Amino acid sequence: MPEAQSAQQATASIKPLVALVSADMERVNELILSMAGSNVELIPEIAHHLIDSGGKRLRPMLTLAFAQMFKYTGDGHVTLAACVEFMHTATLLHDDVVDESDMRRGKEAARMLWGNQASVLVGDYLLGQSFKMMVEVGSLEALRILSEASAIIAEGEVLQLAAAQDTSTQEAQYMQVIEAKTAALFAAASEVSPEIAGESDAVRAACRKFGMDLGLAFQLVDDALDYGGSAQDLGKDIGDDLREGKITLPVVYAMERGTPEDLVFWKRCLEEGDVREGDLEHAIALLKATGSLADTIERAKAFGASAKQALSDLPDGAVKDALVSCVDYCISRVS
Ligand code: IPE
Ligand code: IPE
Ligand code: MG
Ligand code: MG
Repeated sequence: MPEAQSAQQATASIKPLVALVSADMERVNELILSMAGSNVELIPEIAHHLIDSGGKRLRPMLTLAFAQMFKYTGDGHVTLAACVEFMHTATLLHDDVVDESDMRRGKEAARMLWGNQASVLVGDYLLGQSFKMMVEVGSLEALRILSEASAIIAEGEVLQLAAAQDTSTQEAQYMQVIEAKTAALFAAASEVSPEIAGESDAVRAACRKFGMDLGLAFQLVDDALDYGGSAQDLGKDIGDDLREGKITLPVVYAMERGTPEDLVFWKRCLEEGDVREGDLEHAIALLKATGSLADTIERAKAFGASAKQALSDLPDGAVKDALVSCVDYCISRVS
């Protein structure tokens, strides 16, 4: 099937990807459960709280999908996919502490039930387990790709913390943060499979580019949804970014485009942390009136298109089609 035609037929859904990797994902889930164990009871208790509430498993699906695309025949992709999800789970535990978030995956965040200290430490345990698994795969290069991502994610979260409440933050700095805290893991998740399958540097780079651009689109959408979405759909509260003084792209645009009076409002909320009743609704109204949410989504769409473009020289077939639908799904969460 010609590529343009197959891309057109794809729908905005994650289901084709879920279906394609379901057998491998079962093995990933088993591995995740076994590696979340420990004789220290609090560890499996907290880890299971988060793992059992699901999550989309988007990142490990990328690892499994690319392994399938390149007809990889070993077991390394299953282990690496579990590593990727563990890194993500650890990041969520840490992120909810940093962001003081109350809700995650439709439940109370672990920190609300066990406290910040336990959440951070269990996150560290999961990261440690993830590195143990990576070593077992025996690919020094995969270890390099994922360990680099791990350091970059932490760097991104620190960079974001340093920029919080700074309303002079520009789009370029915001992009630097989201590339590090989110897109780097999507990129690494996509790159490890062509690596262990022995693909060329060019193929690896294409997969990495796909993951990176999808990750950027994903976080742009997430940041739009923090104002424009609903807690019920997302399984996490909206308005966290406003309350935390996080300078995301919707807000960067709204401040550039707003009246002096609007700027006073944004500074009160974001710089002074003085968020009052009705402020979130007012913020949403301003973001909509200035086209800031719509333009953030436009940016996400552009990265989505670039992600699909990165697939153009990779083998055609069911995996590529499913990845294209997955990109559209990530973007259609808002439109
Ligand atoms: C949440 O990621 C963190 C962000 C990068 C926005 P997901 O939305 O993929 O979280 P789960 O795993 O599906 O819960
Ligand atoms: C994602 O950023 C950070 C991670 C890489 C975990 P957010 O802080 O926006 O993610 P959510 O909204 O808490 O899921
Ligand atoms: Mg957060
Ligand atoms: Mg968010």
